Amino acid sequence: RSGGSETAKRRAGERAVDAVDDGDVVGLGTGSTAAHAIRALGRRVDAGLDVSGVATSLQSRELAREAGIPLTSLDAVGSVDVAIDGTDQFDRETGALIKGGGAAHAREKVVDASADRFLVVADPSKAARGLDASVPVELLPAARRPVESAVRDLGGEPTLRAAERKDGPVVTDNGNLVLDCAFGALSNPGALATDLARVPGVVAHGLFVDLADAVLVGTEDGVETRSY
Ligand code: A5P
Repeated sequence: RSGGSETAKRRAGERAVDAVDDGDVVGLGTGSTAAHAIRALGRRVDAGLDVSGVATSLQSRELAREAGIPLTSLDAVGSVDVAIDGTDQFDRETGALIKGGGAAHAREKVVDASADRFLVVADPSKAARGLDASVPVELLPAARRPVESAVRDLGGEPTLRAAERKDGPVVTDNGNLVLDCAFGALSNPGALATDLARVPGVVAHGLFVDLADAVLVGTEDGVETRSY
């Protein structure tokens, strides 16, 4: 699923972890780039850093456990100091994101939006001028037909995401389905985000508008930070 060089992803993840301070609660994102950050944070914990993590998925929870990062929950802490998460595409100009390639965007958005600072980690393959990737929409299984109609009314073409290694659809960590919705180039991501969020049965869509504080782009040579 994810292209981009591991070196670039690792550099971005490590740089983001440099921003974590002793005592912080850290939101732990999902995907291959966030995984590098979780491993780097684990190394700092080994070296004595006192933090706790809030996982955004079963995957990030498992990685955090392996890395030795103590876990807490939003139920316990309410918000996080810094969230570090990957993205599938970002708009260089605005920092708007499309997430959910790993079907984890519902919990990612809750954790990332609660953060004092939300740092996105990416490689150059994620950068775009404007957004044009399909928008993942998590929905209640019973709402599939009306949500598909609503997406078409908004100008999108929905495709139910199929599981890769089982017959049938992807089922999210929350027990829901995902529609990948092709809208072409998004002329107004903020308006589409509002419209999608209003559709009954939609649990969360993958447009993250006005949430990222910075995108850290790893390259073969270093890390480029874009602040928003
Ligand atoms: C998970 O649902 C997504 O939002 C991920 O954050 C996104 O897919 C990034 O994954 P990679 O770092 O593996 O590209």
